Amino acid sequence: MIRAEDPARLGRELLSRYSAADLAVLTPDEAGRFAPHGDGDPRADITLAWELLYRLEPELYDRLVSAERLHPGVLGWLPRHAGRIVEVGAGAGRLTVELVGRGREVVAIEPAMPLRQILARKLGATDHGDRAQVIHGFFDALPVASGSADLVVACSAFTPAPGHGGEAGLSEMERVCRPGGCVAIVWPNNLDWLAAHGYGYVCFAGPMAAEFASPQEAVELARIFYPGSAAEVRRRGRRRVPYEVLGINPPRDIAFKMVGP
Ligand SMILES: C[S@@+](CC[C@H](N)C(=O)[O-])C[C@H]1O[C@@H](n2cnc3c(N)ncnc32)[C@H](O)[C@@H]1O
Repeated sequence: MIRAEDPARLGRELLSRYSAADLAVLTPDEAGRFAPHGDGDPRADITLAWELLYRLEPELYDRLVSAERLHPGVLGWLPRHAGRIVEVGAGAGRLTVELVGRGREVVAIEPAMPLRQILARKLGATDHGDRAQVIHGFFDALPVASGSADLVVACSAFTPAPGHGGEAGLSEMERVCRPGGCVAIVWPNNLDWLAAHGYGYVCFAGPMAAEFASPQEAVELARIFYPGSAAEVRRRGRRRVPYEVLGINPPRDIAFKMVGP
């Protein structure tokens, strides 16, 4: 999960949620990427804690991202009509469900099995959901042919860290993209790193708020995911919570590269 502000402050509750014993949920391929030295500690490594959340409490994670909707400008910027779209790290489908009406074929790649199950369920209830296939895979070894996609996209999933993309993952996304197609990293972190790799940037303005299902859910999820803001979320008593209150950058931007011939 990409959090732009102070990861330690934002993650302190999640850091106490799981223990080293929970690492047993990871497959060997996952452990090799997310705890490569075999001594991963989800009480010290917030990225590892997020990976355990996806596998141990996927519905809780889905409730969070259902509140964190993408800026309409992001959805407007992405192509409306494409042949093949590949999304990497599709998760529970926050972006995928928006993409299915835009591609003749959508390939949603996601390593965490519980999230693939949620995504498949959602796509089954979505218009054009039958155009999508949900498959297992990782950034650094995409199970897709070279030059076969018009759009290769990741939303809140790619980072420069090798286990979550890195040099190998970016090369893979560009390999899969056809000449003249686009690689897009939605809600990116490490903009300088992406700029150094030739990525442009677009950001959409305007006020944004997370939209929880109810004021109670706002408080419940803030306690876990935005503990530094939980008191203020409770004081406000609203289901809509501006991102400034939560203390994170809103999902309003894209780093992108048009892949040359
Ligand atoms: C914060 S979630 C975002 C999910 C979804 N794209 C969204 O916007 O809601 C990050 C996702 O990246 C996936 N992920 C983590 N490491 C990955 C890797 N090496 N290759 C592909 N996906 C990965 C996770 O399983 C998770 O679904």
